[in-house]
Amino acid sequence: MSQRILVTGGAGFIGSSLCERLLNEGHQVVALDNMFRGRAENLKECHEHPSFHFLSGDACSSDDLQRCFDLLGGIDLIHHLAAINGTRWFHEAARQVIDVNINATLATVEKAVEWGSRYVLASSPEAFGDVSSMPLMEGSESVFSNPSQHQRFAYGASKYLDEVAVQHAVRNGLDGRIVRPFNGYGVRLMGDEYGQVVAMMFEAIRRQEPINVHGDGQQTRSFTHIDDLVNGFYLAGHLDGGIEGQPLSGSSFNLGSEEEVNMLSLAQSINEVVGSQAVDIVLSEGYHGDSMRRLPNCTNAVSMLGWHPAISLKDGLISVWSGLQHQP
Ligand SMILES: NC(=O)c1ccc[n+]([C@@H]2O[C@H](COP(=O)([O-])OP(=O)(O)OC[C@H]3O[C@@H](n4cnc5c(N)ncnc54)[C@H](O)[C@@H]3O)[C@@H](O)[C@H]2O)c1
Repeated sequence: MSQRILVTGGAGFIGSSLCERLLNEGHQVVALDNMFRGRAENLKECHEHPSFHFLSGDACSSDDLQRCFDLLGGIDLIHHLAAINGTRWFHEAARQVIDVNINATLATVEKAVEWGSRYVLASSPEAFGDVSSMPLMEGSESVFSNPSQHQRFAYGASKYLDEVAVQHAVRNGLDGRIVRPFNGYGVRLMGDEYGQVVAMMFEAIRRQEPINVHGDGQQTRSFTHIDDLVNGFYLAGHLDGGIEGQPLSGSSFNLGSEEEVNMLSLAQSINEVVGSQAVDIVLSEGYHGDSMRRLPNCTNAVSMLGWHPAISLKDGLISVWSGLQHQP
């Protein structure tokens, strides 16, 4: 059945691909974005669709959210993705990160309760903070370091509080689900100095400049292709119950590949993919508070949503490189 869906942060990296998927599945979609980090070209394909609306506005604003509701005559589901993401912002603009990430979640949760909408929160593995024990389970403890050392957890701690706000509303009747994407990558990922690592490495190749690897390059991440992430968001919002009838409200889902890769080998893999355009890899100072390892356990996503990451890192990097060839 066609649903009326609000995607906040809909012009961003994940949001725009999620809008495309929702439209292709026959739903009506309104994307709300203030274009802080969103890009108009991300929504080119969506704009060709008659069931798509874009609203330029602030996800913290009750009035702007209400305009989305009025556009579709109701909202059955909110995918809340609007947030300030990108490591450099966490350090440079901690106040703004805290403000937007918390207030946009409080405002959208409030509307979901008022409208009786289902709610999917885009949280993050950073909501676990500095925890050293891996893999990260859906219910792992969160550990945050002393804020006088660095401001990195402006982001992670705001995502933690976002989860608290959603769980609180779930206790009061909201149908709320939480997803935690692990290092998504795809053609639309931002590769500028405020961007994320895979895209920054490809950007270095495009400019034929050395790839910068932070620290000693031994820190690991798990990289998840955009199509796999979008599928996880889709299932978390679409399914009424788990594949074995489990209740989904109040559940959180780690969405990540279990292929653990260190930054040095990521840079080497990217060099292999681009062949003759490979560049030098140099080590440089990283950000304070960067985690050494981040690896998910995705038991809930597998057993409740039937979600599996389908795209290997090698195939994903090849497809990104091929997609980037068609970019200006
Ligand atoms: N990309 C990842 O790997 C990843 C990992 C963990 C969590 N997440 C979370 O998933 C969500 C989407 O991430 P993304 O990678 O697509 O980031 P993104 O920066 O590309 O998208 C976020 C969008 O939100 C918009 N936005 C920011 N403040 C806003 C506001 N006040 N009102 C309206 N729109 C606003 C931005 O302009 C941007 O288009 C975010 O909540 C992010 O924290 C992403």
